[in-house]
Amino acid sequence: MPIFPPGFHWGSATASHQVEGNNTNNDWWDWEHDPASPCVEPSGDAIDHYHRYDDDFALLASLGQNAHRFSLEWSRIEPAEGEFSTAALDHYGRMLDSLARHGLTAFVTLHHFTLPRWFAARGGWLAPDALDVFARYVARVSAALGDRMPYVCTINEPQIVARECYLSGQFPPGHRDLTEAVTVNGVLAAAHRRAVEVLRAGPGSAQLGTCLHLPHLEPLRPGDEADEGAAAAARMVMVDTHLDDLRAGGDVGDFVGLQYYSRALIDATSPDLTAGPPEGAETTLMGWEVYPAGFGAVLRRIAEAGLPVVVTENGIATTDDDQRVRYLASHLGEVAAALADGIDVRGYLYWSSFDNFEWAVGYRPTFGLVGIDRADGLRRVPRRSAELFGEVARTGDLSV
Ligand code: NOJ
Repeated sequence: MPIFPPGFHWGSATASHQVEGNNTNNDWWDWEHDPASPCVEPSGDAIDHYHRYDDDFALLASLGQNAHRFSLEWSRIEPAEGEFSTAALDHYGRMLDSLARHGLTAFVTLHHFTLPRWFAARGGWLAPDALDVFARYVARVSAALGDRMPYVCTINEPQIVARECYLSGQFPPGHRDLTEAVTVNGVLAAAHRRAVEVLRAGPGSAQLGTCLHLPHLEPLRPGDEADEGAAAAARMVMVDTHLDDLRAGGDVGDFVGLQYYSRALIDATSPDLTAGPPEGAETTLMGWEVYPAGFGAVLRRIAEAGLPVVVTENGIATTDDDQRVRYLASHLGEVAAALADGIDVRGYLYWSSFDNFEWAVGYRPTFGLVGIDRADGLRRVPRRSAELFGEVARTGDLSV
């Protein structure tokens, strides 16, 4: 029996730097090539999606998907401050046309981790005029592509940008400064609102949303005062800042994107406040615990923002595709249960369409529904999980 409503968005997601290849003009390219950074390898050609997007979209459509999320590479669109590339904007226009031709509803991310080199060099999100600089980029994108973007994701995982770039130092610029992290978290919440303002002016009438990473946070030792306190603080920074921003009123967009991977156990005695997965837990190639119940919990939590929810990322890195199939079944089961409870979930976009460049960890973690044979010209190799996911998409029925 179908349990997912007709019109539900079924698809998968990528991000420019992780798939396009040779994004040589952004801060990540420099970071990957800096021997002092934690990166294990550079992105290089990635999966050459920049040139192969049309075949890639045909493949995803043939696998039964009806939606696709991808990101625009700001450093291609604005290669030097205030100078916009018509060729790059045309390229993304052709990608949008290709998606439409293949029957894939486009979810376009405006900012997914990478910054143009010139912007990073003058402070990135900490620059005093960061919001104006971002708004100018969004205005250009809107003018060129606004009438072809059905859905726009403004900012990808603002809390992760704040944490990894400015607190853990794993992402560029590699700072470790709590004040900066808190500042950037707030700047990115404001950047979402600025983008909404700019995009509302048209052309087009895209549905707009920010994409929040919501781990399921729990104290390692329930009842322990220090762990409970640390979990509450982490929840405030990671979750509440953004949900409160959305609840504060005004035009905050039309949907909220939810990105969920795992549970985080908060340990006040650990330097980064997190404990690893509990002993015996099922884990992924990222070392993350498989914890579907947490997905159900955060689906309900994010619904408190009062907006329809689109799952803009959820997925697993594994070498065992049967584990991926089980992960999909259990996590889609949580979406089905949330729908049955009246939570307004409009779509599920698996991370990721293809194996790709997993940031500082490189190419080892394989998240894709479609594998990439890196020894054979980046050949696309659809996995059985992709077929099964397509069956669920076609039938709306989880029991296939
Ligand atoms: C979230 C990020 O948006 C994406 O870029 C990343 O690859 C996945 N999480 C997996 O870590």
